[in-house]
Amino acid sequence: MCKEGKQKVKIVLGPASQELGEKISQLTSIPIVPVASKMFPDGESYIRIEGNMQDEHVAIVQTTCAPQDSRLMQLAFMAAAAKRNKARKVTAVVPYLAYARQDKSFLPGENVSIETVAHMLKAAGVDALVTVNIHAESALKKFPFPAKTLSAIPLLAEYFTKKGIKKAFALAPDKGAMYIAEQAQSVLQGEAGHLEKQRDRYTGQTSQTGKGLNVKGQTVIIFDDIISTGGTIVGAAKILRELGVAHVYTACVHGLLIGDAEKRILDAGVEEIVSTDSVPSHVSKVSLAPLIAKALKALKSG
Ligand code: R5P
Repeated sequence: MCKEGKQKVKIVLGPASQELGEKISQLTSIPIVPVASKMFPDGESYIRIEGNMQDEHVAIVQTTCAPQDSRLMQLAFMAAAAKRNKARKVTAVVPYLAYARQDKSFLPGENVSIETVAHMLKAAGVDALVTVNIHAESALKKFPFPAKTLSAIPLLAEYFTKKGIKKAFALAPDKGAMYIAEQAQSVLQGEAGHLEKQRDRYTGQTSQTGKGLNVKGQTVIIFDDIISTGGTIVGAAKILRELGVAHVYTACVHGLLIGDAEKRILDAGVEEIVSTDSVPSHVSKVSLAPLIAKALKALKSG
């Protein structure tokens, strides 16, 4: 951990991203301000920022994977505490941004949840946001302050090239994720393509087809922003098997891996699951630290 110094930027180490925050501090030499946190017996969150923030630009590193609502409240409390203690500016660095998938009112009566989160963060004192592979970039327009998303896809693709897997086919599970497959393709130097996926908005059930894909005998890596229940990857792997692929791997930025998702994916013939540490787990084989460090170095010089 770097010691607190007289620099313009400080990292406030959110309780949900301690390890990642420390790695970022080491890469940037931005000092850390620790945070004490606990949960009261009734489930309410408590935080206390343990350091001086007066006139500093603080970058609060806090992911918002499960328990999402507590993580979001902690983030809001840290931002408000930073401002109460005279921080000059607060940037929320949120590797996995909860509620980003509800970026529209898909059915009458629904909320645009990410917009509510954005305004809640603004009210708490957040002035800017940095996230990683937000589900849809258009959601950033809902934020009443500058918000940007970084892409971890090249880092994930490099994981495979470092393993010796070159010229693999980069597959997106749906057309909307094709930009992800293209980013991976530029590292893997193979082909890229996508499946077609439909979702029933009432039941959440999805169906996929692999029409027009020629992947016979190839090594295919399925890239997605999120793996949640694993249904999308299991469905894609089934189609790939039918199309006669040689090997299937999968990589995602945010490995939520709910319930038995990992087992179902491996049982479907996927040889390895790789994710980043936006959601820390044993499949977090790629760290976001270098990517976020680069973004924070820009804050430092700004
Ligand atoms: C949705 O469009 C996302 O990009 C992911 O494909 C989705 O969240 C994955 O969910 P699951 O693992 O439950 O299929």
